[in-house]
Amino acid sequence: MAKEPVRVLVTGAAGQIGYALVPMIARGVMLGPDQPVILHMLDIPPAAEALNGVKMELVDAASPLLKGVVATTDVVEACTGVNIAVMVGGFPRKEGMERKDVMSKNVSIYKSQASALEQHAAPNCKVLVVANPANTNALILKEFAPSIPAKNITALTRLDHNRALGQISERLNVQVCDVKNVIIWGNHSSTQYPDVNHATVKTPSGEKPVRELVKDDAWLNGEFITTVQQRGAAIIKARKLSSALSAASSACDHIRDWVLGTPEGTWVSMGVYSDGSYNVPAGVIYSFPVTCKNGEWTIVQGLAIDDLSRKKLDITGAELCEEKELAYSCLS
Ligand code: NAD
Ligand code: LMR
Repeated sequence: MAKEPVRVLVTGAAGQIGYALVPMIARGVMLGPDQPVILHMLDIPPAAEALNGVKMELVDAASPLLKGVVATTDVVEACTGVNIAVMVGGFPRKEGMERKDVMSKNVSIYKSQASALEQHAAPNCKVLVVANPANTNALILKEFAPSIPAKNITALTRLDHNRALGQISERLNVQVCDVKNVIIWGNHSSTQYPDVNHATVKTPSGEKPVRELVKDDAWLNGEFITTVQQRGAAIIKARKLSSALSAASSACDHIRDWVLGTPEGTWVSMGVYSDGSYNVPAGVIYSFPVTCKNGEWTIVQGLAIDDLSRKKLDITGAELCEEKELAYSCLS
């Protein structure tokens, strides 16, 4: 029997990530090839005509899985009945700006959209915040939507996770699908800590630690980390626009694994409400290694943290606490 359609909201749908993301959702990349979807697309009035153009293109793409499109500038209409909300709407960082610089513009959007989601989304709606500062926007959304369970509100660090996989795959000249269990700790910002201490590569003679295969700790502890941390800025410099196709693709990966589960023996990175695991600050949205099953994520526990990692987990945790304070000062 055909499945009931799932309603997926994309805010900022007329923007560049939106334009890459909505066709992926309509073609089953996010929820699977047998899951019909109804797309809800929200943007602001100045973008209404462009949004309507995206809707026209979705109709023209004639995806068999797409059972309806709501394109609107009304936040209540956009949020009504949605099962999944991908929050992309906001102002992107431009060349020379740090993510903190976009804070004041974006946190107020997340405060107001929190109420709309809380009141009008389907029960148990899963929320993914993409717009920067992603972790802190997600925290504000959580704080101003107290009836949505904290476990349902997440931030995108899967792009950073995938970037780390990509760097290792290029360095070792192996397939990216054979590399697994990197970790992004902390903030989706230049303080994030891409950690390969538990990462492995599938080889003809079994799974091998990344460190053993790379044989260059100086690179792994130096250039590898800064490349992943600065990748967003490098893309802005090259494209004069922030990443879009990779952001859209990793948003699909994030939701797909959350809803359908992570493969046995594999974890992924997600920004989730911190319970203080690994002695990082509680009460911020911090990226951890997680496994997912039956639509719920669980933080992977018990991983050894060496001295270098400890310092880096603390630095990015401190930045998230600072951002939280700054966000509240922008809202007061
Ligand atoms: P964009 O400017 O192309 O699109 C943003 C869209 O949001 C625009 O169409 C704009 O009209 C709309 N918008 C603005 N305010 C809105 C509101 N209140 N409600 C609904 N829509 C609204 O930007 P983009 O390149 O698509 O990037 C979107 C966001 O995603 C930015 O904040 C960017 O920094 C962030 N981003 C995050 C990641 C990540 O990994 N977490 C990766 C890439 C980009
Ligand atoms: C990215 O990581 O590509 C985005 O967050 C854009 C940015 O501002 O870096």
